[in-house]
Amino acid sequence: MKIAVFGSGTMGSGIAQVFATYGYQVVMIDVDKKILENALNNIRKSLNKLYDKKAIKEDPETIISRISTGEDPGYSSGAELIIEAIVEKEEMKIDLFKKLDRIHGRNVIFATNTSSISITKLASATSRPEKVVGMHFFNPVPLMKLVEVVKGERTSDETVNYVYDLAKKLEKIPVKTQDYPGFVANRILMPLINEAILSLSEGVAGPEDIDLVAKYGLNHPMGPLELADLIGLDVCLDIMNVLYKDLGDPKYSPAPLLKRMVAAGKLGRKTGEGFYKYNK
Ligand code: 3HC
Repeated sequence: MKIAVFGSGTMGSGIAQVFATYGYQVVMIDVDKKILENALNNIRKSLNKLYDKKAIKEDPETIISRISTGEDPGYSSGAELIIEAIVEKEEMKIDLFKKLDRIHGRNVIFATNTSSISITKLASATSRPEKVVGMHFFNPVPLMKLVEVVKGERTSDETVNYVYDLAKKLEKIPVKTQDYPGFVANRILMPLINEAILSLSEGVAGPEDIDLVAKYGLNHPMGPLELADLIGLDVCLDIMNVLYKDLGDPKYSPAPLLKRMVAAGKLGRKTGEGFYKYNK
């Protein structure tokens, strides 16, 4: 079975890696050759690490050989399932789904890894809203077990169940949710991160201490600020903006410091600086 993944950033490459690990043929599509090369390098590093730890049995190069790459959306033809994991911008996702709707037959399912944008809106851009579904993975995709399976207003039960069962085949733990801003995970997580950023900017404690509190007082595996750096501050801001706009409650307004850091290009690990500094 062939899967097409659009977008080869942290999430797209992680999704491609997981499907290839479980034996699926994957085509990973992005706009630029360099981005795709970088994604394959990251997949190789991750697979090597998992192989060294005996978390996977198959040789990493065999797994990678199931992943092909390309810049033309047409490379996705013949795929049974499309997973969109491009940037978290509604207009761009709608554009892509419109394009793919013209290329693919009626039976092809369009899944989106969006972290907060309405599935119903994305589905309405296609002629197959019953085949459009949220398949929301978590970062780092090869390690995190959860997949939110999100039902849009017109998504069929058959489509939801197909993606739910597929997630199980990847040894993930799927959870069905309704199409609501932030679904469940980001509705809970992003206000927590935002509140940590507000606490930092109000001088309640420094970044390390805020993270220590969450790790050793709340037993979180990572503090909220180091987690924000891992997710990407731009992604956190995009999600806060969706929660704020679509739920209409000022309690979701993004912290000014978050906006300022994103404007400055301090996006976390991927740019080498966020709340902490990283060697790129
Ligand atoms: N592939 C392979 N190995 C990886 C990896 C990847 N992609 N990412 C990290 N690892 C490795 C680390 O390099 C480390 O290897 P090492 O032991 O050789 O140094 C190993 O995994 C374990 O890392 P840690 O020692 O830091 O141990 P942890 O037990 O803390 O595990 C973690 C790491 C799973 C990332 C854990 O810290 C964690 O669960 N953090 C929270 C992650 C989280 O909340 N993610 C959800 C974000 S929200 C989201 O994605 C939704 C989106 O819409 C925004």
